[in-house]
Amino acid sequence: MKKVKSKKFGEKLKSKTTSQKFLKPQKLAEANLFTMSAIQVSLREQARNVLLCENAEKKAQCAFDVFTSHQKGEHNTSLLDTEGWPERPGRPEKPELLDPRDMPKRRSGGHAGRIGLLHALAHIELNAIDLAFDLLGRYENTPMPEEFYFDWLRVGAEEAKHFMLLQGRLKSLGSSYGALPAHDGLWEAALNTAHNLAARLAVVPMVLEARGLDVTPQMIEKLTKNGDKESADILEVIYEDEKTHVAIGSKWFSYLCQKQNKDPQTQYQNYVQTYFRGDIKPPFNKPARDEAGLPEEFYIFAR
Ligand SMILES: [Fe+2]
Ligand SMILES: [Fe+2]
Repeated sequence: MKKVKSKKFGEKLKSKTTSQKFLKPQKLAEANLFTMSAIQVSLREQARNVLLCENAEKKAQCAFDVFTSHQKGEHNTSLLDTEGWPERPGRPEKPELLDPRDMPKRRSGGHAGRIGLLHALAHIELNAIDLAFDLLGRYENTPMPEEFYFDWLRVGAEEAKHFMLLQGRLKSLGSSYGALPAHDGLWEAALNTAHNLAARLAVVPMVLEARGLDVTPQMIEKLTKNGDKESADILEVIYEDEKTHVAIGSKWFSYLCQKQNKDPQTQYQNYVQTYFRGDIKPPFNKPARDEAGLPEEFYIFAR
């Protein structure tokens, strides 16, 4: 496995990071559904390999390689895939995964606080790689248009870029991913919605990733104020990409609701009530949420 350079990830993905590329699906209503065609079969096997990879940097590299091979049309179309889908992703021995209630309180300032923040973000991004590739292979019984798979491949590659940028920054500060414990609550959302693609889209991109849009600008401000421009710049990249991820989630959620003749707002609120245990609390980043196609009427409701 060749060494991953964060710059390479950034350069390859740079040209298409604006959300406009994703907001208008081409003739979704008439799009051919991507059932068990060879490309999907091959993609499913590749997505499983990413999910099961136990080494964090190799997982990120593998995610990026799957994306680029599909971009170039180099995917293997001869392999049939009839295997089941793993319940959990492969993970490295370190970091130790703790119940969220057992996590030590993070230091808020200084060098240790900065490492703590970057480590927590790297853990979120590693989970995000798995969540994107899980979407590509888990829901084989819900056939989707080809564009759906390409959208989530790009999301997965961007999550890999985010992980490697944070890992690079941690290393330059004398640490690395695995040096601190991390919590195991993030995969819970995946397990709760493992049977229902629309519910997964409501909870993961449209609740969890949307929350990222609310909190990231303050983190960028704080890092900048504390003189850590390198980390602030990485978070800027992540913030811009994450708007697109929420937009992709909203787009495909609306597509599924339209197909099932359901009202998207009511469905979103039902799924959040049923499958998301946390709070959806202000302050909300309304401009970023609006930009991502997530209207206020969806997420402000009595629970
Ligand atoms: Fe990300
Ligand atoms: Fe994301």
